[in-house]
Amino acid sequence: MSLLSRFYYFVSLLSVVSCSVTVYTNLNPFLTGTANPAFQTAICIGAVPCDGNVLNPIPNPSLNGGQFAIQLYSGGMTGMSIPVSGSFLGFSIELSVSNAVLGNNGNTLNPIFLNLMANMQARAGKTLVRVGGNSQESATVVPSGLPNNTAIEKPQVGTDRTFTPVLLISPNLIYAMGNISTLVNVEWFIGLPFNDTSNPRTTLAEIAQSVLGKNLIGMQLGNEPDLYTTNQLRNSSYTVQDYTVEWGQVLQDYQQDSKVPNTDIFVAPSICCGLSGNGWMPEQVWDTGFLTQYGNNLAYIAVEHYPTNNCNDTGPLDPEQQMPQFFLNHSAVIELSQPYANTSQIAAQMNKPFIMFETNTASCGGFSGLSDSFVSALWTIDYALNMASFNFSNALLHVGGQSDYYNPFTPPTTNQTSYRQWSIGPTYYAALVVAEALGPTGDAQVLDLGLNNRNDLTPGYVIYEQGNPTRVVLINSLTDPSGASNYTALISVGGNNTGQPGATPATVTVKYLLAPSATDKWNITWGGQTFGGPFASDGRLTGDLQTYTVTCDQTNNVCPITVPAPAVAVVFLTPESFANSQGSATVTFETTIATAVHNKHGYRQSDGPRKVKRPRRTIFPRIRINESR
Ligand SMILES: *[C@@H]1O[C@H](CO)[C@@H](O)[C@H](O)[C@H]1NC(C)=O
Ligand SMILES: *[C@@H]1O[C@H](CO)[C@@H](O)[C@H](O)[C@H]1NC(C)=O
Ligand SMILES: *[C@@H]1O[C@H](CO)[C@@H](O)[C@H](O)[C@H]1NC(C)=O
Ligand SMILES: *[C@@H]1O[C@H](CO)[C@@H](O)[C@H](O)[C@H]1NC(C)=O
Ligand SMILES: *[C@@H]1O[C@H](CO)[C@@H](O)[C@H](O)[C@H]1NC(C)=O
Ligand SMILES: *[C@@H]1O[C@H](CO)[C@@H](O)[C@H](O)[C@H]1NC(C)=O
Ligand SMILES: *[C@@H]1O[C@H](CO)[C@@H](O)[C@H](O)[C@H]1NC(C)=O
Ligand SMILES: *[C@@H]1O[C@H](CO)[C@@H](O)[C@H](O)[C@H]1NC(C)=O
Ligand SMILES: *[C@@H]1O[C@H](CO)[C@@H](O)[C@H](O)[C@H]1NC(C)=O
Ligand SMILES: *[C@@H]1O[C@H](CO)[C@@H](O)[C@H](O)[C@H]1NC(C)=O
Ligand SMILES: *[C@@H]1O[C@H](CO)[C@@H](O)[C@H](O)[C@H]1NC(C)=O
Ligand SMILES: *[C@@H]1O[C@H](CO)[C@@H](O)[C@H](O)[C@H]1NC(C)=O
Repeated sequence: MSLLSRFYYFVSLLSVVSCSVTVYTNLNPFLTGTANPAFQTAICIGAVPCDGNVLNPIPNPSLNGGQFAIQLYSGGMTGMSIPVSGSFLGFSIELSVSNAVLGNNGNTLNPIFLNLMANMQARAGKTLVRVGGNSQESATVVPSGLPNNTAIEKPQVGTDRTFTPVLLISPNLIYAMGNISTLVNVEWFIGLPFNDTSNPRTTLAEIAQSVLGKNLIGMQLGNEPDLYTTNQLRNSSYTVQDYTVEWGQVLQDYQQDSKVPNTDIFVAPSICCGLSGNGWMPEQVWDTGFLTQYGNNLAYIAVEHYPTNNCNDTGPLDPEQQMPQFFLNHSAVIELSQPYANTSQIAAQMNKPFIMFETNTASCGGFSGLSDSFVSALWTIDYALNMASFNFSNALLHVGGQSDYYNPFTPPTTNQTSYRQWSIGPTYYAALVVAEALGPTGDAQVLDLGLNNRNDLTPGYVIYEQGNPTRVVLINSLTDPSGASNYTALISVGGNNTGQPGATPATVTVKYLLAPSATDKWNITWGGQTFGGPFASDGRLTGDLQTYTVTCDQTNNVCPITVPAPAVAVVFLTPESFANSQGSATVTFETTIATAVHNKHGYRQSDGPRKVKRPRRTIFPRIRINESR
């Protein structure tokens, strides 16, 4: 069923059956806008919307004229990746804050989240979302539900960063996930606890399998076991061999649970930190026989990794220094992917997808000014396409709580949801760009072009589908309002002594991701459209879509594409590749606040039914460390 027909099906169902799903909002139209005293006096809560810190962009090295040739060949190119889809980049939502994002039960879904997922679906066909993280280790399901209509309760609150609280989960969280998938095409991973092998707590898997059915595509058993000693979930003598033995024991617990019929969709080993020197490399796990013993039970082979961290309270790293070293640096991005090349080959030989299950700019919340600025979008696009070029099948961007800078999207605190919308971070724009660059066919093969003599500030990629180059992604990480650091990519397809006739198209379509500077926070546009500033988004792009048609020189086989500093340009080499990536779904989910705003501008009312409810009362305690890595 198409999204549109599914939506109308849902609408018509609603008119006859009163107990079906209602996409509701608790935004009260009479409380919105600057005239509202609550709005005017409300304090700003949240790292992304409230932190005003803007870093200085890096100085501009000369691009020496800035014309770089790209020669593409019909039929494919050496070293192209395995085929991937526009759903390559998905999201990982920390379990302990997931109800604030998804909703507290199947009847109170968050329309803004639905819109954000619908945007992905329109471009990529579907989105992968994992609900889990460090907090999954302490999760226990309360089958009878939780008081005050909340899906998640944290009875203990700690301040110590390594302290893991007990996390109580209501089945309603899974019902919310299930109902989300009836409206938008989201496929789910659920994180299962592995903190206690003598008390495996299989109930979460039981409920997830029964409620989510085929929309449950993976169950992650254990999160970052290579940090278990550090995080005090195991003692100091815990080894990778112990892990493999224990994993088999807990697998058996699941296999003996008749309410968990499918034990072939596990995700493991989700190790993170061999590259950082404080954890295990995948080969150490493979050498214990892990894949030989459990390969048949795995739907995905998973690792997790963040390039750097902000975990050190006593001496935080300097984001201004991190920026050129790790983020505006293509060599550093390759160094993140290269160590996994052996494992991506092993996974391909086993016919298993290989997933970067959790990543983002920096663990422990990211960095102010870096994780929440355009830098993070430039990095995410480079890193995602780089992982694809190294034969990862998917990667999930982590979403944490209010104190995390790296969130692709952040809802307001629960007590402000009646008059504030969501803050959309730069990495969500990156997810849209990657989805469009890869498109929905599942045939996208990615190759790093080594553009501009492998310059670290100007990476470029080509995407092939069925043997033909269909899209080119060009990144310019410099900041130079004068225009002197713009570069021009000269794209040629075939011809030029390649032994092939010229296949350069007559025209190409270009869409730009733009910001005034690499460290800008809120003036990001994708194809001229935006999600606006802090607390400003209902999850839908606003503004008119702006694309550029570039006329190519077919006599000389050259399409000149200008890439401003900073920007990411996606060049659609064929009309089909553009049409596929723009999608066709038009269904969106209106919030009351959005309706009010739209009415003011004379836009039409919502398509769907709405039910305005009172603001939810539950307050989520802000536990910095436990919300995220
Ligand atoms: C939708 O939510 C309702 C209420 O929580 C629940 O009873 C129902 O099972 C959910 N449906 C799905 C498909 O998850
Ligand atoms: C594992 O987590 C559960 C639930 O939070 C907790 O009750 C239990 O004490 C933990 N076990 C260990 C060994 O950490
Ligand atoms: C439920 O809400 C009531 C009233 O706001 C509050 O007193 C109580 O502590 C809450 N219970 C839990 C378990 O959060
Ligand atoms: C660590 O735990 C294991 C298994 O529970 C136990 O056999 C071992 O003696 C412990 N080691 C230390 C150093 O406490
Ligand atoms: C790849 O991993 C396997 C399994 O750990 C190992 O035996 C092999 O030496 C590795 N190959 C390379 C090139 O690292
Ligand atoms: C934390 O920062 C302090 C001060 O910069 C430094 O001395 C210490 O080594 C850092 N600790 C870690 C674990 O990085
Ligand atoms: C970029 O990363 C490479 C590889 O880690 C490193 O050698 C180089 O110094 C980095 N560049 C900057 C400007 O830090
Ligand atoms: C990815 O896989 C393809 C197909 O097996 C292979 O040709 C290519 O070299 C791999 N890429 C990397 C970076 O390992
Ligand atoms: C709203 O919730 C936040 C925590 O999420 C709390 O710090 C703040 O004091 C609350 N404000 C009001 C007015 O209750
Ligand atoms: C650089 O790019 C910007 C943005 O597209 C454009 O306005 C400007 O004219 C360009 N400058 C040069 C010198 O090409
Ligand atoms: C960003 O946009 C705001 C309006 O949304 C504008 O006032 C501001 O000048 C812009 N900043 C830059 C650096 O362009
Ligand atoms: C292809 O040839 C034309 C003229 O023969 C030249 O202008 C152009 O730069 C060449 N392109 C590449 C990528 O070498």
